[in-house]
Amino acid sequence: MSASFFYAIIPTLAFRSLGVNYLLLIQLKQAIMYSTLQFIHSYWAYLVVFVVVIATINALAGFFGKKEYQPKDFRLALFALIVTHLQLLIGLILFFVSPNGLQAISNNGMGVVMKDSQMRLLAIEHPIIMLLITALITIGYSKHKKKLVSTPKFKMLAIFYTIATIFMLSRIPWGQWF
Ligand code: HEM
Repeated sequence: MSASFFYAIIPTLAFRSLGVNYLLLIQLKQAIMYSTLQFIHSYWAYLVVFVVVIATINALAGFFGKKEYQPKDFRLALFALIVTHLQLLIGLILFFVSPNGLQAISNNGMGVVMKDSQMRLLAIEHPIIMLLITALITIGYSKHKKKLVSTPKFKMLAIFYTIATIFMLSRIPWGQWF
């Protein structure tokens, strides 16, 4: 018998001898992981929405106001990129541990999820659209970096960040956000 079998069985036996159900402990661990990730994802979202909206307004003001591109404009665009990428990472893990993510699809079936607007929003639309907005922000950021003059730089940011902002605001689960 392999050593890993013993490593797996020893805590089970130890907890059982103490009268503790090991499976219950695993469920508790998963519940703590889920609520922690949901908490981080929920509060980090305030920063994401705020920074992406400000970066978009700044890009539009720079483009329409024919402003000179400054280091602060670069920092703002980069900050929006970073906070969105971090939210994407947290969201991806959350998708696999949340009862409203992958579990909703595997427990109820795709047909049921697609018919229920709330379930569809959390398990399908929100994850897909947020993946898309991260891609849009990444493309806009890298395209603007390749331009050498102020107006084309602002133009790239304005186009991609504006589309990303509209999509993002359209697929936030506003009803359950605390
Ligand atoms: C990148 C921008 C994103 C923003 C701004 C965002 C924002 C939010 C907000 C505000 C909520 C509601 C939180 C609450 O209940 O208080 C939420 C929930 C959720 N998000 Fe995101 N999210 C993003 C990306 C993602 C991605 C990429 C995924 C998965 C691939 C994802 C998966 C989820 C899931 C599964 C929930 C439901 C959690 C639950 O209630 O069990 N999110 N998100």
